[in-house]
Amino acid sequence: MEELEALRADALAQLEAVDGADALEQWRIDVLGTKGRLKALTPGMKDVPKEQKPQAGKLLNEVKSALETAFADRSKTVAASGGSSGPAAGASAGTTGPLLDVTEPGISPGLGGRHVLTRTMDELAEVFARMGFSISQGPEVEDEWHNFVALNIPEDHPARDPLENFYIDGKHLLRTQTSTVQIRTMENASPPLKIISMGRVYRPDEVDATHSDMFHQIEGLYVDRNVSMVDLKTTLLQFAHAYFGADAEVRLVPSFFPFTEPSAEMYVRMHVKGTLQWVELGGCGMVDPNVFEAVGYDPEQWSGFAFGLGIERIAMRKYGIPDIRWFYENDVRFLKHFA
Ligand code: DAH
Repeated sequence: MEELEALRADALAQLEAVDGADALEQWRIDVLGTKGRLKALTPGMKDVPKEQKPQAGKLLNEVKSALETAFADRSKTVAASGGSSGPAAGASAGTTGPLLDVTEPGISPGLGGRHVLTRTMDELAEVFARMGFSISQGPEVEDEWHNFVALNIPEDHPARDPLENFYIDGKHLLRTQTSTVQIRTMENASPPLKIISMGRVYRPDEVDATHSDMFHQIEGLYVDRNVSMVDLKTTLLQFAHAYFGADAEVRLVPSFFPFTEPSAEMYVRMHVKGTLQWVELGGCGMVDPNVFEAVGYDPEQWSGFAFGLGIERIAMRKYGIPDIRWFYENDVRFLKHFA
């Protein structure tokens, strides 16, 4: 207890004499620090006779809080007098680390955003929903029936070449087109129906600025009585107007797909970098009677149109994205641009 009293007197006297923030900090370390003089006295507590223990403990706490209070008071005067040196001088002396400037703008936690492809798909879903299309979905791992056979793609068709497909085993492959969902939807529902389906498709293409071995398609299918090519073109034109603007135009160029007859390639005239251009977006046509037969629809009663468009192509034109690979690289600068 005498030692405690001595420490108190001595330390307080030293504290009075402290000059500047550095010296003050040194005092704190010497006296109150984890290896300081006060701590050094604590082990001695166990040698105090039992009757005096409560008293000694009380004194220890008293000395400790007296020194801390004195230190806090002294800190204020040292700080107010401008202190001596270093970054701690402006803050309460004795604290270390950088100053906190509460007037600085905070660090934003950074909000995520939809990927531009997700956003494009949301927009497409909305445009087609307004025209009465609902959304259908199918698996990315498909069998040959849904990817080829039911779509009227014969055994010897070049599209079935193993080199043109990602086969998983002899019977299953990653789907090459969302047309598979036409078959799955018709197998599970009776006509009339009006659906779109969006999702990933896979082809072993050489990857470059306009090709990727995985990309996205939007498939459309409308089956009813007396559906005609006029309905197809009207639907595509309405879509183009809603999505690319009132001055967009649609052109259908004769083509061939096994699952449609007649078939066409769809072009949209839209603004690309300030000039109007014809851009091919995909294929379309009237559903081939063989496809109806494959799913058990009577081709004498029902007719329909279908289309399949590349979603990256649509997004690249709409947002002026020059390289398809940018969609998948997840470069934060690209993502942020569309967030
Ligand atoms: N599935 C075709 C492709 O990937 C695109 C397509 C063409 C889809 C005509 C259709 C269609 O539904 O009618 O190249």
